[in-house]
Amino acid sequence: MKTQIISVDGNNIDKDVMRRAGEIIKKGGLVAFPTETVYGLGGDALKEESSGKIYRAKGRPSDNPLIVHICRMEDLPYLVEEVPDTARRLADAFWPGPLTMILRKSDKVPRTTTGGLDTVAVRMPMHRAALAFIEAAGGYVAAPSANISGKPSPTLARYVAEDMDGRIDMILDGGEIGIGLESTIVDLTGEVPVILRPGYITKEMLEGVLGKTEVDKALSDSSPAQPPRAPGMKYRHYAPKGELTIISGRQEQVVEEINRRAREKRQQGEKVGVIGTEDSVEYYIADSVKCAGTRKDENTIAKALYRILREFDDEGVTVIYSESFGEPEGSGIGQAIMNRLFKAAGHHIEYV
Ligand code: TXA
Ligand code: MG
Repeated sequence: MKTQIISVDGNNIDKDVMRRAGEIIKKGGLVAFPTETVYGLGGDALKEESSGKIYRAKGRPSDNPLIVHICRMEDLPYLVEEVPDTARRLADAFWPGPLTMILRKSDKVPRTTTGGLDTVAVRMPMHRAALAFIEAAGGYVAAPSANISGKPSPTLARYVAEDMDGRIDMILDGGEIGIGLESTIVDLTGEVPVILRPGYITKEMLEGVLGKTEVDKALSDSSPAQPPRAPGMKYRHYAPKGELTIISGRQEQVVEEINRRAREKRQQGEKVGVIGTEDSVEYYIADSVKCAGTRKDENTIAKALYRILREFDDEGVTVIYSESFGEPEGSGIGQAIMNRLFKAAGHHIEYV
């Protein structure tokens, strides 16, 4: 299959391009598209064959459900048994935006889309090109992140192409993604709302609208006794090829420890990469030192993280050390950053 790559501009939508992309979806094909979080790999959410194609293109286990993307609040009732009051309030506050809600599904949504579950994940993204594309595609686009399963989610169309060239019909290239980490997922099917995946919309923001909100226990406990409630969170995700270790502590000590380890590994013939920030990168000595942004604005770190992990892969880095960026229980987007970094590191963190 030949994959077409077409540039799109959220501020200047080319209706003809969107119509063509929408036609592909309606005919059962696949189109990757930009959202404000990461690139998505879209197919018709209401067609069984389309979700099957998505799973195959990603090499993803089919028990890992897809998020259904919509572009209008009026389209939500079609997908779900009922729209609870909590969902309306969250939609008012955060849609369109980087928030996914888990609700009880209607019989219109095939089980292939939901990985066999009775619930469905729904999100209305904010990126204008995403909204135009979803509308052109008929309103219901199932889309996981547009990476091969197990690789970091793509924040640039180049990385979508690297993973999906020849496997899908079209890539809509909207340039670099703004947020850089996947949406927050909140489960609204129980008594108390539960965060299944942290993201840009934080626990504090959700509590501001809903009151008490819990975090899935499996997110802070890595023991297999506690399986995560979002099936996708159980897989070793976001994994770079190099072996990643997080070193946490006071900055000077972290720098010293990482440099010591880097020297040792390089002597053993490893190619060493380091992830630091504006405040620290100049002090590191390794084969490849990357600046993830500034601690003064953690959004810069969220945006850079997946790109850096992919760059290390491209450079053939075999051992990676990263600074720690706040604790998993911390507030703000730091929690989401650490959640992804922990997974990329296979939970390997050391304190100095
Ligand atoms: O930001 C995002 O959410 C991106 C963009 C493209 O919208 N999409 C994304 O999709 O990250 P994906 O498939 O890579 O991650 C979806 C996560 C998986 O961990 C999956 O298990 C979980 O959502 N999920 C989907 N449906 C669910 C359901 N009914 N119940 C629990 N978890 C669900
Ligand atoms: Mg993903």
